[in-house]
Amino acid sequence: MQPIIDMRSDTVTRPTPEMREAMARAVVGDDVAGDDPTVNNLEQRAAEMFAKEAALFVPSGTMGNLLAILSQTRPGDEILTHDESHIYYYEGGGYAAVAGCSVRFIPDDDAPKRGLLTPESLGRVLRGSDLHYPRSTLLTIENTHNRGGGVVWDEPLRQRLCEFAHEQGLRVHTDGARIWNASIASGVSLRDLAAGSDTVSACLSKGLGCPVGSVLVGDKETIAIARHKRKMLGGGMRQAGVIAAAALHAFEHHHIDRLTEDHRRAGELATTIAKFDLFDFDPTSVETNLIYARLSEDALAERGDAFEWQDLLDEVGVRCYAESRTTLRFVTHLDLSDELIAMVPERLAALG
Ligand SMILES: Cc1ncc(COP(=O)(O)O)c(C=O)c1O
Repeated sequence: MQPIIDMRSDTVTRPTPEMREAMARAVVGDDVAGDDPTVNNLEQRAAEMFAKEAALFVPSGTMGNLLAILSQTRPGDEILTHDESHIYYYEGGGYAAVAGCSVRFIPDDDAPKRGLLTPESLGRVLRGSDLHYPRSTLLTIENTHNRGGGVVWDEPLRQRLCEFAHEQGLRVHTDGARIWNASIASGVSLRDLAAGSDTVSACLSKGLGCPVGSVLVGDKETIAIARHKRKMLGGGMRQAGVIAAAALHAFEHHHIDRLTEDHRRAGELATTIAKFDLFDFDPTSVETNLIYARLSEDALAERGDAFEWQDLLDEVGVRCYAESRTTLRFVTHLDLSDELIAMVPERLAALG
């Protein structure tokens, strides 16, 4: 049987045998009571890594983002974000359903890359504090930007944006689900990538290969509010050290450094498949581990849309996601080797 090459997401990774051993050995306690030494250790490490006062271990990136919103807004407030941000696009409308916020989009037409924002475009959508308007309280940005193609923020631009947002009285949250990738790809430290953001959420269950979890970092007061809201949402976990141990293992065993491998593999694969008639995209747009491969007009005419191509690729053992009618997303991660990835072009070629 041909091996299945699962490139749908970096969330499909399974914990390595060594990570599982570290999880089995974890010293645990009741984390809701603050008694789990492994969770406490992870939270302290995360706060240090991002140079913030405090951190909170949460079950998912979605909950980390939702807690960032809940702890920095009031019902009726407006959050400002990109219309293809994960928070808006993929999180079930939690900002509205749970936090009671509306959303205002900031266009990216003057930004150097898709998904990034400029202070000027933020300035154009801000409406001031007239009593007719909702309070605009929180700007959210995403680094790397998922639907922007896994792109890394331009640092001077990000800093200018955060400064401007603060001058306007906004708080800033970074959805850093893949901030590890941003750091490795840009050579900018995690603490610098977090600077200027009041809160940052970072996923442990993606590039780092942990089975579950994210961290939310920020100032003590905001994280204390988030801790209370986490309990309210049912995210207070008890002997959570078993899963926190996976993250500590990842930090200590080069799961961050090795992301360079994922980025190299994504770049190489993108260069190879971009030559196929099937696709029409610029492989040099791939900066990290996400390949957004637009299908050619011919390919679309032949099969209708990317969802049909996703099913067809599935049949030849290459799993990916159609991210829109025209585009397939392939993701490199810890569970893929050079050998497996080398089979992707062969299988695409076999499709004819
Ligand atoms: C940019 C971004 N933010 C947040 C999340 C949410 O993470 P989770 O799946 O752990 O809820 C994801 C997951 O794919 C993501 O890509």
